[in-house]
Amino acid sequence: MAKALSVLALAGLALLASATTPIPVSSAPTGASEPIPEAFVSYSIEFAFFPDFAGNISHPNTFSYNLLTNIGHLAGTNPYIRVGGNTQDYALYNASLKEAINGTYNLARSPDYPTTIFIGPSYFESYHTWPNTKYSHGFNMGLGGNNSAGWETLLETVPLACKALGGGKLLWWEYGNEPDLYSTSSQGPVRPPTWNESTYVEQWLNATRAIKSQLSKACPDMLSNKTYGYMAPSFAGVSNHLKPTVAFADDLDGDEDIRLISIHNYIGGATQPGVTLQGTLMNHTNTVHSVNNLVTARNNLAYLGIPYVVGETNSLYNEGAPGLSNAFGAALWGVDFNLWCASQSLKRVHMHQGTDYRYAAWQPVQTNKTSIGTKAPYYGSITVAAMLGDLNRHAVQISSLPLPNQNESAYAAYENGQLERIAVINMRQYNYTVNGTSSVPNPVARESQSYTFQIPSGISKVGIQRLAANGSDAITGITFDGWSYNYELQHGRPVRLHNTTIGEELTVKKGSVTVSVPDSSAVILNMQYGW
Ligand SMILES: *[C@@H]1O[C@H](CO)[C@@H](O)[C@H](O)[C@H]1NC(C)=O
Ligand SMILES: *[C@@H]1O[C@H](CO)[C@@H](O)[C@H](O)[C@H]1NC(C)=O
Ligand SMILES: *[C@@H]1O[C@H](CO)[C@@H](O)[C@H](O)[C@H]1NC(C)=O
Ligand SMILES: *[C@@H]1O[C@H](CO)[C@@H](O)[C@H](O)[C@H]1NC(C)=O
Ligand SMILES: *[C@@H]1O[C@H](CO)[C@@H](O)[C@H](O)[C@H]1NC(C)=O
Ligand SMILES: *[C@@H]1O[C@H](CO)[C@@H](O)[C@H](O)[C@H]1NC(C)=O
Ligand SMILES: *[C@@H]1O[C@H](CO)[C@@H](O)[C@H](O)[C@H]1NC(C)=O
Ligand SMILES: *[C@@H]1O[C@H](CO)[C@@H](O)[C@H](O)[C@H]1NC(C)=O
Ligand SMILES: *[C@@H]1O[C@H](CO)[C@@H](O)[C@H](O)[C@H]1NC(C)=O
Ligand SMILES: *[C@@H]1O[C@H](CO)[C@@H](O)[C@H](O)[C@H]1NC(C)=O
Ligand SMILES: *[C@@H]1O[C@H](CO)[C@@H](O)[C@H](O)[C@H]1NC(C)=O
Ligand SMILES: *[C@@H]1O[C@H](CO)[C@@H](O)[C@H](O)[C@H]1NC(C)=O
Repeated sequence: MAKALSVLALAGLALLASATTPIPVSSAPTGASEPIPEAFVSYSIEFAFFPDFAGNISHPNTFSYNLLTNIGHLAGTNPYIRVGGNTQDYALYNASLKEAINGTYNLARSPDYPTTIFIGPSYFESYHTWPNTKYSHGFNMGLGGNNSAGWETLLETVPLACKALGGGKLLWWEYGNEPDLYSTSSQGPVRPPTWNESTYVEQWLNATRAIKSQLSKACPDMLSNKTYGYMAPSFAGVSNHLKPTVAFADDLDGDEDIRLISIHNYIGGATQPGVTLQGTLMNHTNTVHSVNNLVTARNNLAYLGIPYVVGETNSLYNEGAPGLSNAFGAALWGVDFNLWCASQSLKRVHMHQGTDYRYAAWQPVQTNKTSIGTKAPYYGSITVAAMLGDLNRHAVQISSLPLPNQNESAYAAYENGQLERIAVINMRQYNYTVNGTSSVPNPVARESQSYTFQIPSGISKVGIQRLAANGSDAITGITFDGWSYNYELQHGRPVRLHNTTIGEELTVKKGSVTVSVPDSSAVILNMQYGW
């Protein structure tokens, strides 16, 4: 035992001693994830802002759709869209409302989204604008289990939602967003302090049975095992006032209709003291710590045999922090976070979006707070989709390749058992301006790190794709493999820029390749087999 330990310790020291010590990459997916199911790169769209993101039948939002299909072309399936979030639990139905939504902000409750919300029948038009897209629809539990208007909303909107989501568009239903916070919410509690797992389970079963009964009248074709089911419990975390393990032990799945276990996760808070790009987001160790909570809960619930997804997530809760969540550094975090989740066999990640949200991958409409456009985090989604490849055509498995520094990470992607790609994310912070908002260019030169991988035999060349920007503080000018998806160019369709380097190749020397990765950037190495 002692001997084995010292050998391990020596191997660790050797890795630290020299950056050029080759990192071994196994030819087989030993220790890799289970095969990743389709639509791993998915989104969650805040309920109140879904009409902004999707538009309606007369005015579909084609910019959003262009961005979704870019990912679909890489992944084989367009991202799945969860429509939900805090505002799903504020939305009441008003059958005479002409507009899709009438939202009123109460700045004391939240400056970022309306907390008094009425939706009209035309809200459901937004489910008709994007072809080839699957959705989950979030029903209101916050008010649904609190007052009669909330309960009436549930009964009245089931027929509208099921008619909009028939024909294979429904992923699953959802009843309630983050009910683990209902009695403690800083936006105002909707349950008394006695709220616990058993009252939650009782109300969840009561209401989902009512949903099923409404479906049997309005959409009887949506009651089979293939078409009827839920993602649940959509808790904000694994250790709040309500615990997912206790809810399931209290027989949340008593009706055997939960198809996905969904838990939410944020790395930190937008206004939490001490949050920085380098220390909080561009920090692989911190990401691993955060995801470990999800992995532990997944393992504790594995006995249920239900797939487990991250149903809502992003960098910093409370809609992100300016200068952090909208910066290129957050795109690099997104690549590391998503690939780490994939390596741990979490089945899907829904990155949360909202109009004017600082962490949004794109702003779907022009507002007086935010210009319409593709934002830095979108390029993180594109890079993850490129690294995972077409999940319909191949059994893709991801493994983590441990690196010595907490500000870097690397992953290997296997297709049908063969190594195809390696990703390296160098998260050492490089600012291209001084003091963040300053227009003074940084006089300090940008450093690069050199990574050598020992790769399997039979690989003749390695092609490179780079995720690049001027620095981790850049919020514009981001490209992946020379492609820009900016609104200003082709409304989000890919445009190859002529002022970026593309088509780089590495030659294999003695079974190894060496790639240079500038600080605050990422690369994907593509293996080319044969001679
Ligand atoms: C419902 O919408 C109609 C039409 O806009 C409006 O007159 C009415 O006040 C609304 N009801 C509520 C409760 O907001
Ligand atoms: C559709 O969207 C347009 C543009 O936002 C809006 O003017 C129109 O009122 C909407 N139609 C309905 C039925 O909500
Ligand atoms: C929108 O909601 C607000 C707040 O409840 C209400 O005062 C207003 O009348 C509503 N407008 C419409 C058109 O229903
Ligand atoms: C339970 O369901 C009944 C109708 O079946 C409904 O009236 C009641 O409000 C529901 N209670 C809760 C707490 O959801
Ligand atoms: C409804 O919400 C209020 C707070 O808005 C809370 O005080 C009350 O206990 C809730 N009622 C039920 C039945 O959960
Ligand atoms: C949960 O709360 C209910 C109602 O207050 C109570 O009857 C029940 O014993 C509680 N359950 C647990 C597990 O504490
Ligand atoms: C539907 O699924 C449930 C739970 O998995 C199972 O018990 C039941 O037999 C299934 N029904 C059919 C018709 O496949
Ligand atoms: C990175 O995250 C780890 C784990 O949370 C933490 O201990 C460490 O201090 C962080 N690094 C920096 C530079 O803040
Ligand atoms: C910004 O837009 C919102 C929503 O359309 C509106 O309520 C608000 O008055 C506008 N603010 C300014 C300063 O124009
Ligand atoms: C950057 O901030 C530091 C510390 O506040 C200050 O001393 C320095 O002058 C600033 N540099 C520029 C170029 O604004
Ligand atoms: C980058 O800029 C941020 C914000 O101004 C600052 O806190 C950080 O120390 C800078 N980091 C480097 C490596 O220059
Ligand atoms: C590269 O080209 C794009 C599109 O024409 C332009 O917006 C950008 O400023 C250029 N970048 C550099 C560094 O010249």
